Amino acid sequence: MKERTLLVIVLVTTALLAAGFWVAANVNLMPAEASTRAALVDQLFRAMLGLAAVIFLLVEGLLLYSVLRFRRSKGDEGDAVPVHGNRALEIVWTVIPALIVVVIGSYSFRVLAASETREADPIVVNIHSRQFSWSFEYPAEGVTSTDLHLPLGRQARFLITSDDVIHSFWVPEFRVKRDATPGQIAELLVTPSRLGAYPVRCAELCGVGHASMGLSSQAVVESPEDFQSWIEKTRALSNDPVTTFNTMGCNGCHSLAAAGAKGVVGPVLDGLGQRAGSTASGQDAATYIRTSIVKPGDQIVPGFADNVMPRNFGERLKPEQLQALVDFLMAQ
Ligand code: CUA
Repeated sequence: MKERTLLVIVLVTTALLAAGFWVAANVNLMPAEASTRAALVDQLFRAMLGLAAVIFLLVEGLLLYSVLRFRRSKGDEGDAVPVHGNRALEIVWTVIPALIVVVIGSYSFRVLAASETREADPIVVNIHSRQFSWSFEYPAEGVTSTDLHLPLGRQARFLITSDDVIHSFWVPEFRVKRDATPGQIAELLVTPSRLGAYPVRCAELCGVGHASMGLSSQAVVESPEDFQSWIEKTRALSNDPVTTFNTMGCNGCHSLAAAGAKGVVGPVLDGLGQRAGSTASGQDAATYIRTSIVKPGDQIVPGFADNVMPRNFGERLKPEQLQALVDFLMAQ
């Protein structure tokens, strides 16, 4: 009898471990791995998923076995055998989970330490978020963009902040997510390892346009040569009003055909030049448009909420950018 029990334990343990390894090797719930960090995170995730599968099958299996094996038989009205503790069992079910926690904890710490290792000569990108868009500033290159372009294989150092409320920078394919908090700068290191374009999402409910923050910007990983030519092309366009319109995030809230913008949070801007001179404010069209950009609270269009549009465009736009933007909107 004892030998049979031992055999059952050995067989069940083998089957559970085999199931755990199978799950770890074959179940993939993650999107593409587009950074060196993603490979490390996925290994950890697979190990934990395999372990969780073993524990799930063990616990549910014991439960099912007990329900069937110890169920009340017909006509049995007696009490069950009273059991007062089992020291060996209690030690086992305390020590094993404690060991699992220690192993997962130290493995996770190693993955975290490895993914935050600094490499030489990173490309620095200041990431700004606001209701409801992202912009990516490359201080060394003198360029700002609505898309996050990155050269393949070179570490990127993101410095993330917010102009208004808390947002959260999230690129699932890089396996990174970090809060963008007003008044603080959060650092994040990513080394892209796969060519392609991946959506940049916002992972913090930040207002009526939260969902659209996941539609407006992409993380584009490209070869160092393509990246360099993109930098040069973007730099040449830095005072172009359509570029300004999109990099400043106007497209996140407004729709405007000439800029390819489809935002739904703020007023439609198509035809603005024609109607801007006849608003209730009594200003001429150019003044009305300029005021709407730098002091948006002074003239809220009926039906739209106050305190949605950022108040700092007066500081963020260079005078020539603002002028070009006003001229451009006048022509709409
Ligand atoms: Cu920004 Cu949600």
